[in-house]
Amino acid sequence: MTGKHIEVCSLQDTLSHTRYFLNLRTKSTPAIYRRLLLFRINKPSASPQVPQESSNGSSHHEQAESSSSPSPISDASLTEFYCMEETCPHLGAPLSHAELEIDDIENTRTIDLRGGTSATGLSTCTYNVRVEGTGSDATVWVETPSIEGDHAWEVVEFRGVSEEFADPPPLSLQSLELHDGQPTSAPSQTQAELPGELPKTLLEFAHLILATSDPILKCALTREAVTRMRAGKLRSIRPSLAEVKRVRGDVGLLDEPPREQVAVPPGRTGKRGKGGSEKSRILMLHALANIEQYAIDLAWDIIARFAEFEVEGERLPVDFFLDWAKVAEDEAKHYSLLSKRLVEMGSYFGAHTVHAGLWESASDTADSLLSRIAIIHLVAEARGVDMNPLTMAKLRAADDAESTRILEIIHADEITHVTTGHRWFSWICNKRGLDPVQQFRLEVSNNFHGDLKGPFNVEDRAKAGLTPDFYTDLRGHHQRREDRQAAYAHGGGKSGGDEHLHPRLT
Ligand SMILES: [Fe+2]
Ligand SMILES: [Fe+2]
Repeated sequence: MTGKHIEVCSLQDTLSHTRYFLNLRTKSTPAIYRRLLLFRINKPSASPQVPQESSNGSSHHEQAESSSSPSPISDASLTEFYCMEETCPHLGAPLSHAELEIDDIENTRTIDLRGGTSATGLSTCTYNVRVEGTGSDATVWVETPSIEGDHAWEVVEFRGVSEEFADPPPLSLQSLELHDGQPTSAPSQTQAELPGELPKTLLEFAHLILATSDPILKCALTREAVTRMRAGKLRSIRPSLAEVKRVRGDVGLLDEPPREQVAVPPGRTGKRGKGGSEKSRILMLHALANIEQYAIDLAWDIIARFAEFEVEGERLPVDFFLDWAKVAEDEAKHYSLLSKRLVEMGSYFGAHTVHAGLWESASDTADSLLSRIAIIHLVAEARGVDMNPLTMAKLRAADDAESTRILEIIHADEITHVTTGHRWFSWICNKRGLDPVQQFRLEVSNNFHGDLKGPFNVEDRAKAGLTPDFYTDLRGHHQRREDRQAAYAHGGGKSGGDEHLHPRLT
């Protein structure tokens, strides 16, 4: 007996990977999210292919959701699908990279995908999957989660699970021969050397990475932490309260992550020039790399700072920690791509002044998880989602295909980061009986300075759950710190606006 199904993708979309992340969201408010994994398994000696025939050729492509029974894939098909919750029920660990086998049950992490049972008798939620239609029109439908109330669901994210950390190794500045701040020789791609003794838990990694000033090592540690997390090699992902106390020790949390470069106030980083000249593009990519470096720290900081956070006596679930570790991984990828690109363009990260405006917003919201998510992830990161397409258009106009490609990767990821912010903002509001739209507007009013500026990327914001009622006609009344005000007063006019959220390429 199965329930309603939702159309997820075309069958052809499932041929690039063998497992996929599937993020579903209710259309009701506050939104409820469910992260699932979709597995495509080829029958023995089969290669992936689109079925050419079906027992029932009916099509429901126009339907967002169907309670009817889509036709099952034909027996002639060589592909089978299974779907289950992303998180392992007994370890609280992600299953995206776990070894899963249908028949060969040999260890405690092996789960029967058909019935959700495991060798240890544990069960997890599995979802029925059906393929409907034929040939190139075939589509994949997944049973929607069964939760209290009658909810309509939508697909928020569908992407292949990469086996690799999808970025090039970060460049080592030490490997560059510099002359007057410019590299004089082709850089070698040296990986940062990891410390001999590595952390055993996600929280320990978060503290170590936040205390690491070298951005290359920060990226390498982030990659290592996430890889170990997915491989089930960490002792904990969600820390116990005792662990939080132990890891913080006498030092506690750093107010601000250390930097190798001295930051100047926002508005003092100089003008980038106009017209998409190479110099202005380098300065813009440099400013973006600076933001990405802070974004790595912001993702680890939300894990470390709010590790013991409770809502109505309930601690944050393990999914919270998985989600933000994934964001940290993406941000490290972004920093690596941008720093490599800067070298290709004859510069390097550190060649120009940077500011710490984003961290000021983080400090201002250090005492409230709702405020932190609202200002950093639903204002600042959403601003990036607004600006990226405009930046990409200018890069394209300047025939800078490689920088455009990098911005495209970043943009797709950033939408998912805003989605993550929306997921956990909604989760807390749901637990507290708050209206997320009203609460978000209140948070912005109390913790942000000035108008939320457009133009807004309405379409991509909506993908992330930010409908216009969240952000239309919204103004913050937060008073900036005195020193920031002074910096803006002297720092050069208009750029003081929201440049610290996202740099512009004029
Ligand atoms: Fe990013
Ligand atoms: Fe981000």
